Amino acid sequence: MNNYFITQYPFSINPRKNSALIGFINKGLRYLKTGYQVGPLDTSLDMNTVEQRVNYYHLLEEVIAYEVAGDVVELGTFTGQCAALFQKVIEQTGSDKQLHVYDTFATPFTFKGDVEQELIRNFKVANLKQPQIHKGLFEDTLAKELPSQIAFAHIDCGFGGDPNAHKKIMLYCFEQLYPRLEKGAICVLMDYNDSKENGVTLDINPGVKMAFDEFFAGKAEKIVCLYGNQYQHAFFRKK
Ligand SMILES: C[S@@+](CC[C@H](N)C(=O)[O-])C[C@H]1O[C@@H](n2cnc3c(N)ncnc32)[C@H](O)[C@@H]1O
Repeated sequence: MNNYFITQYPFSINPRKNSALIGFINKGLRYLKTGYQVGPLDTSLDMNTVEQRVNYYHLLEEVIAYEVAGDVVELGTFTGQCAALFQKVIEQTGSDKQLHVYDTFATPFTFKGDVEQELIRNFKVANLKQPQIHKGLFEDTLAKELPSQIAFAHIDCGFGGDPNAHKKIMLYCFEQLYPRLEKGAICVLMDYNDSKENGVTLDINPGVKMAFDEFFAGKAEKIVCLYGNQYQHAFFRKK
């Protein structure tokens, strides 16, 4: 067993873009014995970084190993880079958890084509069981279609828009998810950025932290910021 797949398509977009220039730069860095290598990142199509994929791998593997009850859900799936990783971990560990994904599939970013079909295709390419797809606005799907017990959740619904509009969506996600998260469940928040923790002032979706601060004020759960290189994310564990 290994997690080398996190660097391969469709879990990662990068291998498609490896260029002679990147190879040359990395050769130079090895020659200089920096111990550092660069990886290309297309911020309009790469939905996460390799550092974040390492975090996802270990957090999901942990809830499965500790037998936290419930299913795995992702709110904001796009073409499924994270979702495919979650399903791969479920299958690699022999878990019977079901993966549920929620999205309108109507935000193409710079992708040209049908987003939902690309998600289905990516799961086929990776030879994975298809997730249960819940298509529509969260406001129309979550209340009725979230599983009653959740062990692992990923919220990733940012699009770089109005922070207050995003905060409102995040608050709705928290309201629906929180009572269904089992004790010990992990919830990862993409784009959670706390510049006091990490010094990163580029904050593409500040609505995530705004919503967390409001919803979790006075609650027992604590946020843990995780190193993600070019992107930020964080998680909390349900008490
Ligand atoms: C950054 S993308 C998700 C990336 C994805 N996690 C991945 O690994 O590729 C954000 C997604 O959230 C979805 N989204 C945002 N607000 C939504 C809402 N209110 N209801 C349903 N989907 C929403 C968008 O359609 C978009 O596909």
